[in-house]
Amino acid sequence: MILAIPDVLTGAALATARAKLEAAAWIDGKATAGHQGARVKDNQQLAADDPVAREIGAQIVAVLQKNPLFVSAALPLHLLPPMFNRYSGGQTFGTHVDGSIRTLPDGRRIRTDLSCTLFFAEPDEYDGGELIIEDTYGSKSVKLPAGHLILYPSTSLHRITPVTRGARLCSFFWLQSMIRDDARRALLFDMDVGIQRLAADAPGHAGVVQLTGVYHNLLRQWAET
Ligand code: NI
Repeated sequence: MILAIPDVLTGAALATARAKLEAAAWIDGKATAGHQGARVKDNQQLAADDPVAREIGAQIVAVLQKNPLFVSAALPLHLLPPMFNRYSGGQTFGTHVDGSIRTLPDGRRIRTDLSCTLFFAEPDEYDGGELIIEDTYGSKSVKLPAGHLILYPSTSLHRITPVTRGARLCSFFWLQSMIRDDARRALLFDMDVGIQRLAADAPGHAGVVQLTGVYHNLLRQWAET
């Protein structure tokens, strides 16, 4: 499932975060690429211990933990600290797959089930910079408004097209979901959305409680915690 989460950051919070990121100490992105990624990766990043990256990263995690659409779709178990990248002057990231296992700052290893990209620049501020995700139905091109986030399976091959004008500024990170399997996670998300719609249209209907029970019992059967 590929899902856009709108308005993760908005207004003054978005503008302040962006201004801090633009003034931060950007370094060559190859420093953090794996063996395969280093050959196709050409961008800038903030170091993991950069104070701006840490501050804005913590802010992103805090707002996502309170975002009902994100929580319902991702069912997150562990979120890796958000990282930040910047593409300009023709920079690009060729087709690659994200590493399956990553290490948390405390040494624990997490499996990357879902990849997230949060956009900080508006689409009309730069040319190119589309995130192209290979899906079972073909490829999907993603370029969202500032403050919006795209959630997609980490199993996907993906790339960033060259940025030929302006700069593409994003946060990117991974998470391990309580539900490892993308199809099961999509079923639970559809069911949750359906229950919310029923609850809004027929408040107090006994069927809503029954379906909520089914949702939680499926989660109980499938979840890793
Ligand atoms: Ni990637």
